[in-house]
Amino acid sequence: MADSLFTRVLACLQQTDLDRKLRQFDQLLVEWSEGRLSLTPSSEIVRIPEPGRPPKPELVAPKHLPRRGLGSPEGHAALMHSIAHIEFNAVNLALDAIYRFQQMPHRYYHDWLGVAAEESYHFQMVREHLAHLGYEYGDFPAHDGLWMTTFETDHDPLIRMALVPRTLEARGLDVTPAMIQKLRALGDKRGVEILKVLLRDEIGHVEVGSRWFRALCVERGLNPFETFQKILADYFHGDLRGPFNYEARRQAGFCEQEIAWLAEQDGAVHVSVADDGDKGSKNASRH
Ligand SMILES: [Fe+2]
Ligand SMILES: [Fe+2]
Repeated sequence: MADSLFTRVLACLQQTDLDRKLRQFDQLLVEWSEGRLSLTPSSEIVRIPEPGRPPKPELVAPKHLPRRGLGSPEGHAALMHSIAHIEFNAVNLALDAIYRFQQMPHRYYHDWLGVAAEESYHFQMVREHLAHLGYEYGDFPAHDGLWMTTFETDHDPLIRMALVPRTLEARGLDVTPAMIQKLRALGDKRGVEILKVLLRDEIGHVEVGSRWFRALCVERGLNPFETFQKILADYFHGDLRGPFNYEARRQAGFCEQEIAWLAEQDGAVHVSVADDGDKGSKNASRH
């Protein structure tokens, strides 16, 4: 009998050895693409208090993360390290979106495996660049809160889609253009190139979230705009603050009503910006 995708994804999620985890995931992708994995549900869906991760980086509350200016080589590396950490977590989050919700259509798993594959590629790209800067993943402490949202959204893929891709990942769309500018100012050409790839791919990840969020709203006869607002009010503890990358969000499936609502939060009158680092900075300067 074919292995179940869910069993294999769980094994990947729980793997603590970094390189083994990446290899295990690559193998899973090959088997999935060859149609060798079934969608047989697990007899029990276990709670994962913490996904498998290497002993380092040390995880600390965001307020305990040392603030380093970008002016020093160490500060530059710390920025790349924080991006590597986000990408590593993004692999786990995408895998969890698969494992956690086992009654979705086949296409859903195809989409989220695609997201996980890109996150794994992002992680490896950033890790390699970090190595060029003389550091490796684990050399700096990192944010401990990135897994929390999975607990609160464990019970419903609709809420997961609203909060993880459409809120947390969407935030990445807003802040990346400014990071691109900073790296450009440092003369880090490779870093700029990498962040442009990340931004382009992240639009796709948020779009996957938007698409499944809407599909679930349609299935349940819910108004997507009102449902998104309600979920944010009930579950989102962070600040929804601009500047927003409106153009990237549009491409990622935010409707005009949502864009207008975000602009209200931001106090902006009108916005029209591009997703590119160069033009994205205009977005930031507008506010
Ligand atoms: Fe990513
Ligand atoms: Fe992503």
